[in-house]
Amino acid sequence: MSSPAPARRVLSGMRPTGRLHLGNYHGALRNWVELQYQYECYFFVADWHMLTTGYEDTARLQEHVRDVLIDWLAAGLNPGVATLFVQSHVPEHAELTWLLNAVTPVGELERMTQYKDKSQKVESVPAGLLNYPILMAADILLYRADLVPVGEDQIQHLELSREIVRHFNHRFGTRFFAEPQPLLTAASRIMGLDGQAKMSKSLGNTIGVLESPEAIWEKLRPAMTDPARKTRKDPGNPDICNIYQLHKQFSTPEQVQMVAEQCRGAGWGCLDCKRVLADNMAAALAPVRERAAALKANPSRVHEVLAAGARKARAEARRTLDDVSRIMGFLPPAI
Ligand code: TRP
Repeated sequence: MSSPAPARRVLSGMRPTGRLHLGNYHGALRNWVELQYQYECYFFVADWHMLTTGYEDTARLQEHVRDVLIDWLAAGLNPGVATLFVQSHVPEHAELTWLLNAVTPVGELERMTQYKDKSQKVESVPAGLLNYPILMAADILLYRADLVPVGEDQIQHLELSREIVRHFNHRFGTRFFAEPQPLLTAASRIMGLDGQAKMSKSLGNTIGVLESPEAIWEKLRPAMTDPARKTRKDPGNPDICNIYQLHKQFSTPEQVQMVAEQCRGAGWGCLDCKRVLADNMAAALAPVRERAAALKANPSRVHEVLAAGARKARAEARRTLDDVSRIMGFLPPAI
């Protein structure tokens, strides 16, 4: 009889761009919280990835990294079951990146849409911007992850990781690395308050997970609705209204139905509809906000989680690199 398959391993990372907003929360984190109970999960703060995109603020980097961890814990990631760590605490990420550099064709890197986009916007292109997907491949392969939950924008990079696996295995005549698979979920794509683009920090159209009920209301009040609904008396079309989409995330099915009817029949104005949404959002996020405040007041807890995560991640990463070094024929250290 064959032994049961080992628990499949999941890995994902997030860059420390600031506090979590509803887009990160619904798009990724709520999904991670569920995954941690189904798989062996590694989640890390991708601080080295900040070097190539959006890294301006050295003074606030440490705080941003800690805040990401606080937000993760507040949202329900459980360090008792998932390994939570910071990329720069595990230098093996850089080591494997260098080794994978040797089997990655530059042509493949130059094909990446994100690279083409971003390299055009800068005067001088840092090599890191080009090589970034190799670091991402190393992130995944160090932990021999089978499944990688990522958003649409990272699918091409994940495909390149799979290609790097094929190149590595072929070059060294091994089947050591398996090709990581994307884990696409029904994760909801949350649009920003402008109703035009995905909710994103850089577009300034976000609602933060930790914002106060008053701040939530201040942001929702002027948010975009059905543009055809110019006055309260005009019937609206909920299907094209972003506020209605947000109701689906935060309101009960009965409320969602009620909102649709009141919008179509011009019973409620947009402000009435937003008021209900603001209250539901504030109620749903209150426990997350409270947990975050408690963690902020307890830095030693955050420290402890990061120390344990780094220890576990490093041990695992080292094992992979020892195997890789052997496969590539390096002389083991004389210790
Ligand atoms: N590149 C991802 C992003 O910008 C973050 C990331 C880095 C990542 N390494 C990863 C995601 C490995 C999944 C797996 O959002």
